[in-house]
Amino acid sequence: GNKVSVGLLGLGVVGSGVIKLIENHQEKLVHQLGCDVQVKSVLVRDLEKQRDVNTDRTFLTTNPDDVLNDPEIDVIVEVMGGIDEARQHILKAFSAKKHVVTANKDLVALHGQELQKAASQNKCDFYYEASVAGGIPILRGITEGLSSDRIQQVMGIVNGTTNYILTKMDNDGMSYEDALKEAQELGFAEADPTADVEGLDAARKMAILGRLAFSTDVDLEDVEVSGIKNISLEDLQHGNKLGYTMKLIGNANFSNKQLEVDVQPTLLSKEHPLSDVKNEYNAVYVYGEAVGETMFYGPGAGSLPTATAIVSDVVAAIKNMLLGVTGNQLVEPHFNKQLKTPAE
Ligand code: NDP
Ligand code: HSE
Repeated sequence: GNKVSVGLLGLGVVGSGVIKLIENHQEKLVHQLGCDVQVKSVLVRDLEKQRDVNTDRTFLTTNPDDVLNDPEIDVIVEVMGGIDEARQHILKAFSAKKHVVTANKDLVALHGQELQKAASQNKCDFYYEASVAGGIPILRGITEGLSSDRIQQVMGIVNGTTNYILTKMDNDGMSYEDALKEAQELGFAEADPTADVEGLDAARKMAILGRLAFSTDVDLEDVEVSGIKNISLEDLQHGNKLGYTMKLIGNANFSNKQLEVDVQPTLLSKEHPLSDVKNEYNAVYVYGEAVGETMFYGPGAGSLPTATAIVSDVVAAIKNMLLGVTGNQLVEPHFNKQLKTPAE
């Protein structure tokens, strides 16, 4: 037909961005796909809530089946967050042969393998570009852009909230509490920001990056994590005097046939390219055997930047659908715990 209908699960910071982007960039979508893309219905918790987005032509519901069982909907976008309910909804969507796009790194880090299998069994696409580093197309960068290379290291600033807090403390002398409050008001933080400040959100993203970069499963429990809660203004100022900047760094390193993943506050020399990444911006440094050093930089959180990753995934799913193929090459690592040379 000349229209593809999308169903949204969630209409918060990211969901609103998705509606705005699809509306504002409709012409570009039509040009690429030859059809309109329309958000037909949206699952929310509270029908009475004031929304900063135009939903005149969109059906809001509190019943997930209105979205998941609608035969006209081909693509489900999960931007509600949380684990159990989101997982159930996504599995149901695959059973109903709908493609799924999600921004939910908690879910992908924990159940990505199971969801990918369910997608493949139903010949559906499962894409999650927005789950790591918001608007930066890092997952495609790794799985497509560098598919010919053997990646040896992935290192990055992958949490916008903590980078925002550290930048505000370091540059403006702002208190940790005030900086966190600002990051929450700007929509960068998770509903419960504990996962951000304790480094767990970054660990989840590093697990996803490690999985895709090294074609092997990464268990979240194997990722060593420490967050930024105990970092004081004095620590930052002291580092500064010595020519260093404190950053929360995730590192996935492959050597001696071992993959090691960790997330730690790290003092970087001001010469280091990652030391210059400020506010909610993220950057991911990827070292490949043949390509050498690459770095991907951009907004790691926020409504419209994250929406670009989601809607690009929706475009990819629709293109595959129109061609009658599934694009699982993006997300089908070997998932063996037996580590080999990367991509051997
Ligand atoms: P918000 O809290 O702003 O929005 C969540 C939305 O989901 C709300 O509209 C809420 O409904 C709805 N919702 C939540 N739980 C339920 C439920 N049980 N049933 C029905 N509706 C529900 O979250 P964000 O938009 O910030 O984040 C969404 C996802 O995107 C999360 O997985 C997050 O980790 C991820 N993400 C967020 C980024 C960001 O910058 N914020 C960046 C990258 C990923 P209601 O509005 O009625 O309360
Ligand atoms: N809370 C996350 C962050 C959102 O601050 O990076 C983007 O995944």
